[in-house]
Amino acid sequence: MEKEIKKIGILTGGGDCPGLNAVIAAAVKTAVSKYNLEVVGIKNGYRGLFLGESQVVPLDASEVGNIIARGGTILYNSNKDNLFKYPRRDKNGIIKGEDGKPIYDNLSGVAVENLNRMGIDALIIIGGDGTLTSGRDFARLGVPVIGVPKTIDNDLNSTDRTFGFDTAISRSVEAVKCINTTGMSHHRAMVLEVMGRDAGHIALHTGIASAADVILIPEIDYDINIVAEKVKDALKAQRQYALIVVAEGISTPSGEKAGVATDLSPDGFKLKGAGESIANAVQEILNNNRDENGYAISETIMDVEARCTVLGHIQRGGTPTAYDRILCSRYGKKAVEALMEGKRGEMVALKGAHLTTVPLEEVIPTDDMGSNFRPVDVNGEIVELARTMGISFGDK
Ligand code: F6P
Repeated sequence: MEKEIKKIGILTGGGDCPGLNAVIAAAVKTAVSKYNLEVVGIKNGYRGLFLGESQVVPLDASEVGNIIARGGTILYNSNKDNLFKYPRRDKNGIIKGEDGKPIYDNLSGVAVENLNRMGIDALIIIGGDGTLTSGRDFARLGVPVIGVPKTIDNDLNSTDRTFGFDTAISRSVEAVKCINTTGMSHHRAMVLEVMGRDAGHIALHTGIASAADVILIPEIDYDINIVAEKVKDALKAQRQYALIVVAEGISTPSGEKAGVATDLSPDGFKLKGAGESIANAVQEILNNNRDENGYAISETIMDVEARCTVLGHIQRGGTPTAYDRILCSRYGKKAVEALMEGKRGEMVALKGAHLTTVPLEEVIPTDDMGSNFRPVDVNGEIVELARTMGISFGDK
């Protein structure tokens, strides 16, 4: 028979995300006030679970009373500590075998022993795909786990909304307001690069809400000449300014992903440079296609400057929007309720307007990164909305 749940542990994994603290606050308050449970926070994600007591802090209602609006996570994050496949290290960093690949150890048993020794009966695991994959694997080992879906990318299957997405798009839309004024004053082509990894949800929503001229997302192949034509049209139109919202995960005009290989990322690659590649390519096309007077667009727009702003972590840090605070509070409360109702190895999810839970085995069906990936539906209503609003995806 399973042990009665008296003490739960909460951990946050993966990149930080606006709303993590709001989930923690709601989970703690629900656990304490509704079920009289003891709650501890496990610091630094799965690394903390491996290290044990030194990383465990008590959490009570007063501790979390004032964190709903605070960005980041009071428990700290770690995004490369998969205890089921932990790269062996020495003083030179990760040790690689003869095939050039890291040598991995499975350290999950240490974590399970730690949980047993510390009397932690269940875990609430707040994270994205990588973190939830380990959550699923701990559930397979018999640890009572409930996951909470986090990522600004909103690209996780099995839930209509991950928390953090609303904040990311709101922040991006705010940034566009500032970019617009410079763009309009100077008749420039302004490129805004937003995050989203392999998905274009952030770019798509930011672009629609900002009345962009062009949105480029990984899910839709573009032709840079079509993009440049649209930019020209925008510069000739009433506002004499062009806005291009670019998802960081698009292929560059020369056909590859822009970025750098690095051991610092769980997938071995960090995206970097997509927006700049579009700005450079657009600039070059416009420079080489002047009219008979030598003007790029008109006598007031002789030269076009295409400039790129990379929003980066500004989208991800800082205070969550009201929408995210409420979604996170609902998720945190539901996670504890699900545990206490006997749910195991499940993830809280939003389906339409309703909260539910989904088995982690369904959320993460295989070990391939991305087996739970939800791209933009290129034939869906939102893409169609953008097209109807006159926004180009550079494809036709
Ligand atoms: O998955 C969330 C995310 O912010 C992506 O949009 C982005 O590509 C990535 O994380 C960046 O991660 P890091 O801060 O580790 O470079």
